[in-house]
Amino acid sequence: MEDINLLENEIMAQIESASDLKHLDDVRVAVLGKKGVLTEKMKTLGQMDPELRIETAKKLNILKNKIEEAFGAKKNALEEAALNARLEEEKIDVTLPVRPEVQGRIHPVSKIFEEVFAIFGALGFEVAEGPDIEDQFHNFNALNMPLNHPARQMQDTFYIAGKQGEPFDMENAYVARTHTSGIQIRTMENKKPPIRIIAPGRTYRSDMDATHTPMFHQVEGLVVDKTTTFAELKGCLTDFVKAFFELDNIPVRYRPSYFPFTEPSAEMDIGCLKTKTELKIGEGDDWLEILGCGMVHPNVLRAGGIDPDEYQGFAFGVGIDRLAMLKYGIPDLRTFFESDLRWLKHYGFAPLDFSSLTGGLNGNGGSLR
Ligand code: DAH
Repeated sequence: MEDINLLENEIMAQIESASDLKHLDDVRVAVLGKKGVLTEKMKTLGQMDPELRIETAKKLNILKNKIEEAFGAKKNALEEAALNARLEEEKIDVTLPVRPEVQGRIHPVSKIFEEVFAIFGALGFEVAEGPDIEDQFHNFNALNMPLNHPARQMQDTFYIAGKQGEPFDMENAYVARTHTSGIQIRTMENKKPPIRIIAPGRTYRSDMDATHTPMFHQVEGLVVDKTTTFAELKGCLTDFVKAFFELDNIPVRYRPSYFPFTEPSAEMDIGCLKTKTELKIGEGDDWLEILGCGMVHPNVLRAGGIDPDEYQGFAFGVGIDRLAMLKYGIPDLRTFFESDLRWLKHYGFAPLDFSSLTGGLNGNGGSLR
């Protein structure tokens, strides 16, 4: 029995002296591993007299429990010490002044998102989100876009290949969402009316020129209630463009259009002056298309689990990149995604200039351009 006590003291001392987790693990293997001292000791039980064996086994088991407990406690202590050391090492002084030469900029697209959130937030909208990789039910079918609808053709939509080696199943493949409209369905599936959401996000289409990139950004809007009307849609979107372009008066017109998910559908134009060298919004007698909208199609409400005999709604979709180009006079969309620091410095915004309706959409009355 003497040697069991000795063994205990020895092992406990080794555990205690472990200086880090790796060291502790080495000790654990040397004690409890396949060839560890305690394991070896257990193996000697077989050769003992029955009486001695029972007594020794009992002691060894008690020792084993004690040792395991000691390992656990030491492990916790070492982990805590490692975490504290890391926290100490990674400490940063957030009160240090910003060095202007290394100060980052907010990308115009992020800035426009913030502005849109500020405006629709004030109009009582909540932000909803959905996945970039979407199933065809949410991206197409539920939005009243049956299988042979032109928007589903290969040239527009990025289809996601299935598992390697499996034949491509175009009808059931996931897609890179072609618009944020699918979030309308996801929202209706999860929320009872009244619904009042905007849904921002990245969208994808196989297209590339000065005004189209394969990845771009949209904000979707959806309002559903018992008495939602087209008049409300007009008022809401007119308020939006006034606030967005920071103009008290801005000519607006709604042109009849077609979208599968709305009936009736419209495109909204705003008045502008176009000359060879500039574009002035809110003046002149030209028109500029700004967004698509309409009353939610009954089939879409039904697909979202809402009874179209009881509820009606309006929806809209805005291209964020286009808004950024218009508002900040950026001529080529492709430059948005080139990660050129000089470009960002020129068009970007100071990080602490928050957008709000009361404080000004551009933060402290203007960008750092
Ligand atoms: N999903 C359309 C697109 O990507 C935009 C759109 C138009 C959304 C009209 C709507 C809407 O909700 O009502 O071009």
